[in-house]
Amino acid sequence: MSHNNPPVCLPHRQPENLPTQHHHTMPPFSTRLIQWQRQHGRNNLPWQTRDAYRVWLSEIMLQQTQVATVLDYYPRFLAAFPSVQALAAASQDQVLSLWAGLGYYSRARNLHAAAQQVVEQHGGVFPSTRAELETLKGVGRSTAAAIAAFAYHQREAILDGNVKRVLCRVFAQDGDPADKAFERQLWALAESLLPERPNDMPAYTQGLMDLGATLCTRSKPRCHQCPMQSICQAHAQNRTAELPRKKSPAAVQQQTLYWLIIERNHAVWLHKRPQRGIWAGLWCAPTFNSLADLQRFAAQHRIPFHHATELPAIQHRLTHRQLEIIPYRIAADLGSLKAEGCNEMQTATGEWVTPQKFAQYGMPKPLAKLLAE
Ligand code: ADE
Repeated sequence: MSHNNPPVCLPHRQPENLPTQHHHTMPPFSTRLIQWQRQHGRNNLPWQTRDAYRVWLSEIMLQQTQVATVLDYYPRFLAAFPSVQALAAASQDQVLSLWAGLGYYSRARNLHAAAQQVVEQHGGVFPSTRAELETLKGVGRSTAAAIAAFAYHQREAILDGNVKRVLCRVFAQDGDPADKAFERQLWALAESLLPERPNDMPAYTQGLMDLGATLCTRSKPRCHQCPMQSICQAHAQNRTAELPRKKSPAAVQQQTLYWLIIERNHAVWLHKRPQRGIWAGLWCAPTFNSLADLQRFAAQHRIPFHHATELPAIQHRLTHRQLEIIPYRIAADLGSLKAEGCNEMQTATGEWVTPQKFAQYGMPKPLAKLLAE
C-alpha cells in the first residue's frame, strides 16, 4: 500500500474501450483511494460494521438523506428494532412513526417489506451476494453492492450520484447522464477499478463515498486535498466545473391541496392514508384536490364549513412536485362546531389524536409542523 511500490501487473484486465489508469507510472485509483480513506475518510460511523442488517438499514436511510440527519435517526431506529426479526414483526405504523421526518416514505414501507422478505425467505439471515440482495424491496444495484462490500467483502461496484461525479471527473467522462449506454459504461468503469483484495472492499467503497461527499463536491471541489489530483483528467483539463454533465432538470409540476384540520377537545382528526400515492400509509388530515371537494366532505359530515378559518398556505417541495397546501381549521373548542356535527366523524375511518400522541403517528412533515404550531 505504498506509493513507491509500482504495480507492474494490472490488477485485472480492462476492456479495450475503458479509460486507462496510469499503472506503470503511478499508483492506481484503488490504491490511492484506500490509503486516503484510511487516513482521511469517515471511520467512526455507527453503521461501519459487518452486520448486514445494520449496513442495510444505514444504506437505505442514506439514500436521499445527509449523514448528519441519519446520525440522529439511526440509533433510535436501531434501538426500536435491534434485529431484522424485530423490524419484520413491527407494525407499519411503528416503522413509519420512527421514520417520520426523514421523507421519501416509500423507503420505510420497502424497508419493512424487505425485513419480512429476509425473515420469510432467508431464515432471518441477510443474503450475501449482490444478486440476492437486489431481490429485496427498495434495494437497487448500488445499494446491494454496498451491503455486499461492507458486510461480506464482496468485490462489487457501487455507483450512486457521488460516485458518478468522481468517476466522470477522474476519467473525464462527458457522456449524457440520461443516456443508458453511458450509464452502462460507467458501471463497467466502476467494476474495472475495484481493488484486488476482498478485505479492501470496505475502505475502497467508503472511500468512494467519502471522496464524493467531502472533496469531490459538485461545486468548489477541494482538488488541492484530493488523492486523485495528479491522475484526475478533469483537473488536468480544467473541466471540473463542467463534469459531470448536468441532467436536464425534470419538470416540476405545481399542485394545490386542501387540508381540513378538525379539532375537538384539543384532539385533531387524522386518518391513515391509502398505501398508494402521496404520503402513502402516513396519518394525515383529510386532504382534497379542490376546495369544492373539501366542502362536500364537510357537508357530508355535518361540519359547518362557514365557521372554518383559512390558515396561511404552506409550500412543500416533493421530488417532482411543488405542493401548495391550503389548510382550513375548524375548532369545536372555539364554540363554532356543534357537538353532534363532530360526532359524525366517528363513522368515518380515522381517529381523534391528542398532541401527546402525535409522535406515535407518522405524519407528513408539513402537517407535523403545522400541528406543532
Ligand atoms: N452514503 C451512502 N452510504 C454511505 C455510507 N456508508 N457512509 C456515508 N455516506 C453514505
